[in-house]
Amino acid sequence: MEGPWYKPFRIKVVEPIRLIPRAERERKLKEAGYNLFNLRSEDIYIDLLTDSGTGAMSQAQWAAMMEGDEAYAGSHSFASFLEAVREITGFPHVLPTHQGRAAEHVLFSCALEPGKYVLSNTFFDTTRANVIARGCMPLDLPIPEALDPENDLPFKGNMDLKALERTIAEKGPGKIAMIILTVTNNTMAGQPVSLGNVRAVSKIARAHGIPLFIDACRHAENSYFVREREPGYADKSPLEISRELFSLADGCTMSAKKDGLGNIGGFLAMRDQELFERCKERLILVEGFPTYGGLAGRDLAALAVGLKEALELDYLRDRVGQVRWLAERLREESIPIYWPPGGHAVYVDAGRLFPHIPLDEFPGQALACALYLEGGIRTCEVGAAMLGKDAPFQFVRLAIPRRVYTREHLEEVVETLVRIAERAGEIRGMRLVAGEGPLRHFTARFEPLGA
Ligand code: F0G
Repeated sequence: MEGPWYKPFRIKVVEPIRLIPRAERERKLKEAGYNLFNLRSEDIYIDLLTDSGTGAMSQAQWAAMMEGDEAYAGSHSFASFLEAVREITGFPHVLPTHQGRAAEHVLFSCALEPGKYVLSNTFFDTTRANVIARGCMPLDLPIPEALDPENDLPFKGNMDLKALERTIAEKGPGKIAMIILTVTNNTMAGQPVSLGNVRAVSKIARAHGIPLFIDACRHAENSYFVREREPGYADKSPLEISRELFSLADGCTMSAKKDGLGNIGGFLAMRDQELFERCKERLILVEGFPTYGGLAGRDLAALAVGLKEALELDYLRDRVGQVRWLAERLREESIPIYWPPGGHAVYVDAGRLFPHIPLDEFPGQALACALYLEGGIRTCEVGAAMLGKDAPFQFVRLAIPRRVYTREHLEEVVETLVRIAERAGEIRGMRLVAGEGPLRHFTARFEPLGA
């Protein structure tokens, strides 16, 4: 058995980073309108804004890129990609897209009729926005236990089955256009979904003739949690578990920037031939020919390798273990976080860290700004700034890029948070001065209050 420090890779290429002086950080943050999306990456020391497209590729992926086939149609890179996606998902029909939200856009524009409801355990922000853009109503149905940030349950990403049955009965099955399970459940602190829950949702969906799609960005991390936590799966490989997950659904959308270990890419996959034909036409209009879908041949080649690497047990043990280690260190230091940690990120609870900052003064945004000022660390608010006044939590997400940072980097993050917590009472809230709509967090501008 490997020890707790077992690391299944070593570093061959390094990328220099540096911490710019505090006075410069203050100036840059002000120029950025206190929105971390507006900072330049060279002004950041440790970048935990997202785990999406920010991972390090393996030597096998870089080697595959050299053999990328840039033919407009029928490239062998597409053939390798198709084979990998079919092996993992079992879905016969696959369309590559340039990233996850493009897969959502193509699927929703062909499968959703305006005026209907779309149900999810919890929608990711672009998925929700794509549903709304199609004239449909997104409804989140997480289990109530997920709203308790201290409740140590194994699968807090699950969908509330009673609420699902009730909603279908109330609205009528004909009014529900689709059910989407986000696996793992990013907006709900990256919590995993059990296969038992997916099976139950699938049964309900089939009984009512409602299509079930998986938002599969982090399916490999989810399968690792299932192996660790769900009775009956300890001897199954992550690949076998992911295959079982997909067997319960009608299709999936995927951002391969997460568990495809790519810097760009995604796909849409499904069983229904007729829907596939319509999606294919739409794809040609908005993304590209169906054998490249907005990607270069070399991207497809790298993804064909990355999709499989992301399911390797050693890789997943290190990946999910690193996130868990960070969460445990923060707990040791009494920093309030959502517990248990998810697979890709630790969610710091700014609401509990800064009880003196009211919600309309954005405690999460205040913490994200403090992390940059104090340690040059970039993170992402998932609270009132991103989700509006109904946000269930005031989180700051520390998303961990795959195979990029070491425990030393993450220890630096812990120590920075400890310094902020020591003078938590001095941190002031923020005023929103520009930005509206469901995607306002990308473009919003803020001002610090009482400065
Ligand atoms: N679904 C989920 C659950 C996601 O987390 C994301 C992206 C998408 C869909 C959209 O995929 O970015 O490739 O278009 N999440 C990133 C994040 C951006 O930071 O969590 P995309």
